[in-house]
Amino acid sequence: MSAQVKYTLDETQIPKDWYNIVADLPSPPPTVLHPGTKQPVGPSDLEPLFPMELILQEVATERAIEIPEPVRDIFRLWRPSPLIRARRLEKLLDTPAKIYFKYEGVSPAGSHKPNSAVPQAWFNKQAGTKKLTTETGAGQWGSSLAFAGSLFDIDVTVYQVRCSYDQKPYRRALMETYGARCVSSPSTETESGRAALKENPDTPGSLGIAISEAVEVAAKNPDVKYALGSVLNHVMLHQTIIGQEAIKQFELAGDDPDVIIACAGGGSNFAGLAFPFLGLQLRGGRKRRVIAVEPAACPSLSRGKYAYDYGDTAHLTPLMKMHTLGSTFIPPGFHSGGLRYHGMGPLVSHVYELGLIEARACEQIACFEAGVQFARAEGIVPAPESTHAVRCAIDEALRCKAEGKAETICFNLSGHGHFDMGAYINYFAGKLVDVHYDAGELAMALSLLPAVAAE
Ligand SMILES: Cc1ncc(COP(=O)(O)O)c(C=O)c1O
Repeated sequence: MSAQVKYTLDETQIPKDWYNIVADLPSPPPTVLHPGTKQPVGPSDLEPLFPMELILQEVATERAIEIPEPVRDIFRLWRPSPLIRARRLEKLLDTPAKIYFKYEGVSPAGSHKPNSAVPQAWFNKQAGTKKLTTETGAGQWGSSLAFAGSLFDIDVTVYQVRCSYDQKPYRRALMETYGARCVSSPSTETESGRAALKENPDTPGSLGIAISEAVEVAAKNPDVKYALGSVLNHVMLHQTIIGQEAIKQFELAGDDPDVIIACAGGGSNFAGLAFPFLGLQLRGGRKRRVIAVEPAACPSLSRGKYAYDYGDTAHLTPLMKMHTLGSTFIPPGFHSGGLRYHGMGPLVSHVYELGLIEARACEQIACFEAGVQFARAEGIVPAPESTHAVRCAIDEALRCKAEGKAETICFNLSGHGHFDMGAYINYFAGKLVDVHYDAGELAMALSLLPAVAAE
């Protein structure tokens, strides 16, 4: 009999609860501070931006939080996502390692992002929200919120980081197909956008600036709320369905991963796969290696400082303790727009500080090489962000080969790259280069971190 490749679950096995790692951590993550008073924020401080249910999830300490039945019904459109054994890649690498990947590119938008966009839109709908604003780097989150908005009849405006807006016109077309409005950021529509343009009319934009624009519009208009595609605790929470499914799928496969890998921008697809496995460990289970892979041009975990910082460039968001390159840091315009963020989500930063996970930084050409190798073996073209996880998985499999070890590797293939073919065209034309951040600019951005007594 041929060997099994896909491990699939029935729709009834979509998780019923989200998993909250805070319940199992040896110490709670540091509190979030008000940007003005620098005192801990209360739920009411966040009410202009988010509906109360999402704020309560943000500060929740219970282990399991129920997924509303209507949200699970929508998840049936693409979940459970498959766990796939990359047998052809294993053969190509001639490695004794077993490589599995959890494939999140099967969602309507093509990545893990709808896992949070749908519940965020649903909780907003319950609270009576009619308009949402957001940012997008890769275009994946913007497309996902646009899709979720169309399900619940919510108007969505997306501020898309300029270099990504210019690189990927079809992402904008997708957002418009779902009925959203997509604006290149920085724009002239907001004070933060105009300030960024004044400072540098040729700026490639950044997630930090796009977040400022979206938050500003929500803060100034009582009928508009804001949605964030990563970083915050409730987004990490929503993504934990990935790892919960993977645990069941590994039981089906009769296997258990030794190494868990995911790329990390704000940290949500990483947390989504890793946190449920870390939960098993924290509750007495065995230890696994867990690796967050980030771009060498924007290495917030491996090079950033663990400090309180703003989530955006214009300093409109609360202060979060996270690994940060400084909120004024504008990463160079490389091709993984979803990883061009100055900070790492506070929960991912906290588990890194606790020594529960490792961080690795990769250059973009090496990532594209791995993405092409993977596509030719397994057929799926990874999103540029996801190629970081592919790179690391291949490197780990090659390490196993060198050491003669038959370890089991699992990585999160967070999205497909069908809207990113421009980047692949540049790669094949030899136009893609490894871009590097300016060390002086990074030092300057870090020197501008806000002073916070609680540190
Ligand atoms: C395909 C894909 N993977 C990963 C990411 C990184 O985001 P996060 O770290 O929140 O998962 C993005 C962000 O846009 C993305 O589009």
